[in-house]
Amino acid sequence: MKILSIETSCDETAAAIVENGNNVLSSVILSQIDIHKKYGGVVPEIASRQHCENISSVTLNAIEKAKISLNEIDAIAVTYAPGLVGALLVGINFAKGLSLSLNKPVIPIHHIKAHISSAYLENKDLSPPFIAMVMSGGHTHIIEVTSHTMFNIIGQTVDDAIGEVYDKIARSIGLSYPGGKYIDELAQTGNPFAYKFPKPKVKDNKYNFSFSGLKTAVINLIHNNKQKNINININDLSASFQHTICEIIEDKLISYVLESNYNKIVLAGGVACNSGIRKYLSSICKSKNIKIYTPSPYLCTDNAVMVGIQAFYEFKANNFADLDLNAIPYLPIDS
Ligand code: KG4
Ligand code: ZN
Repeated sequence: MKILSIETSCDETAAAIVENGNNVLSSVILSQIDIHKKYGGVVPEIASRQHCENISSVTLNAIEKAKISLNEIDAIAVTYAPGLVGALLVGINFAKGLSLSLNKPVIPIHHIKAHISSAYLENKDLSPPFIAMVMSGGHTHIIEVTSHTMFNIIGQTVDDAIGEVYDKIARSIGLSYPGGKYIDELAQTGNPFAYKFPKPKVKDNKYNFSFSGLKTAVINLIHNNKQKNINININDLSASFQHTICEIIEDKLISYVLESNYNKIVLAGGVACNSGIRKYLSSICKSKNIKIYTPSPYLCTDNAVMVGIQAFYEFKANNFADLDLNAIPYLPIDS
């Protein structure tokens, strides 16, 4: 079964052809980062307009690269939630138009489910149940994946997402957007114990995260030193911040996995590219006999392949959309 998948939830216009959820015939990603970076973040209206301009050529390119004709696809999968509403609408309406003209069904895909399913591609032995840690620019979740299409939220951030914190700290030290990967690079040669940062406590659910206190502490340190003309070692700052992030994830994720007797963890989302977090969690998992799956970085950041993989399982579960499918900016994965 060949699925054409479309992803336009944020600032990447992406299309892919994925066969049977595990064979990638093509993948095309057009990133808008160079356009948004001069504003220090994604500008929603510009994102929608860019998707409008590029969606047809990106999709046709994916069809051409797969060396198939449009008629050979069995379904069209599209991200419909969560994300920027105007950006999502471009992909959704394009998918509906194709569906009408080709008489093929539309499969609605939840963006976070797609991020999790990216791990199946390189790990044929991986199947639910397992625990997923989704970390991206907009999301931070510990998720129990009970089947390919059933999910429970165990914990989530009550304020900023991890990627957002990385990007805001990067911006404060003058790095360009999105700065997560630069902090990762700087941290590699810094001292993780040079600065001590707070690990904010969260009431109610002990598996929930809070990052705003940590973000404020790091940004205040940068600003205070700037005002006093004191040079700060940004490698040490990056390494200390990243080490604190690793300890926070360990506190929540690893304790849940041990308490619940799970033995498999999947890392997903853009921040899962982070070399420091991958190394730290991999070494803890090794010592505790937990298997950890870390998809290649190109599968962690937004792409349409992950949409096509999840779509295969949604297709098998008969999860199709009507032509009134709408964009949903916030939608919990378990709703
Ligand atoms: O999953 P993604 O591409 O888009 C969303 O769904 O949000 O994630 C983008 C986020 C950005 O915040 C970016 O800075 C972060 O992933 N990111 C990283 C790294 N690579 C990308 N954060 C930390 N370390 C990295 N190496
Ligand atoms: Zn994403």
